[in-house]
Amino acid sequence: MLKVINVVGARPNFMKVAPIVAAMKQRPTKFQPLVVHTGQHYDAAMSDSFFRDLELPQPDTHLGVGSASHAAQTAAVMERFEPVVLAEKPDWVLVVGDVNSTLACALVCVKLGVKVAHVEAGLRSRDRTMPEEINRILTDQIADLLLTPSPDADANLKAEGIPPERIRFVGNVMIDSLLQNLERARASGVRSELGVTDMDYGVLTLHRPSNVDQPETFARILAALETITHTLPVIFPVHPRTRKTIAALGLSERVAAMKNLRLIDPLGYLDFLSLYSNARLVLTDSGGIQEETTFLNIPCVTLRENTERPITVELGTNVIVGTDTTRIVDAATAALNGSAKKTARQLPLWDGHASERILDALELDALE
Ligand code: UD1
Repeated sequence: MLKVINVVGARPNFMKVAPIVAAMKQRPTKFQPLVVHTGQHYDAAMSDSFFRDLELPQPDTHLGVGSASHAAQTAAVMERFEPVVLAEKPDWVLVVGDVNSTLACALVCVKLGVKVAHVEAGLRSRDRTMPEEINRILTDQIADLLLTPSPDADANLKAEGIPPERIRFVGNVMIDSLLQNLERARASGVRSELGVTDMDYGVLTLHRPSNVDQPETFARILAALETITHTLPVIFPVHPRTRKTIAALGLSERVAAMKNLRLIDPLGYLDFLSLYSNARLVLTDSGGIQEETTFLNIPCVTLRENTERPITVELGTNVIVGTDTTRIVDAATAALNGSAKKTARQLPLWDGHASERILDALELDALE
């Protein structure tokens, strides 16, 4: 029996951990899963609603760290996670993605000699100004088992000198969640509540500090939206960081002046899936949404200079346009003209069974 602590901290972690914990519960003689929530995200709309939507069991332990500077948040997670690991003595700690909680918990374990598995290992944007890139590189250096979503990730890890026996290509676990919930999302009333019918709207998400904390960059994005929203209404579920910076940078009036830009509170997993899966176009600076839109063949315009998920550009609908106003407008126009890229080929191991392969990898390691 393998006792596994599954760590969640921030919004993009929940849809990666939920199918893994569910799969562990399907193998009750092999796995004893625990869930630890660091509390990096804590608002009902950023955390609780995902437990409900994804049927993720309530955390066995909640560390309640909340928001702080990177150093303070990372340190608080470490300090509060260490006694949990010492008390529980797990066989494995499983961390996902690239948020501060991912690195903090991995670091605690490696110092205690407790084995760590990293799900979504090997992704690289090659942009070290991104806090997530630092979290990815360091977590992969110290984790014992690196579970990758796509072949480019294996290549990145090998290029960094990581021995191949620590790497397993398991596929994209977020697609497990997407496939498990697509049907349930059809029951969401969000589109009728917002008064948008099929395909006559776009969706925008924006939360990267490099976009929303920088006045000039944010202004270039808003200029593009001023043009795009002339022809397409855009629904904008606003991340708490972004809501704060709109006010702090004095952009509230400019945003409110766009009658076709609809600001709403962050959505839960099912409502958001219902919304973007029927959109004509998605504009985003998120990582995961680049993959989800590729899988569903929805045109995706990524408002960043790079991506750690190049497969979405090579095989999918994603275009990386940065934050130049004209480039954003041109990419959106292509999507509206029907000349956007389509998801062309099968995406390797994005098949809804990544969580089973993750469990197989943990079991196999225990036998070796
Ligand atoms: C974090 C992750 C980022 C991920 C994003 C998804 C890191 C370094 N960043 O960024 O990789 O893409 O989550 O959402 O781990 N806040 C609230 N309520 C909450 C959470 C945050 O109001 O529940 C506000 C606080 O003012 C906080 C700010 O948002 O200071 C930023 O939160 P933080 O967790 O530091 O970073 P995110 O921008 O959310």
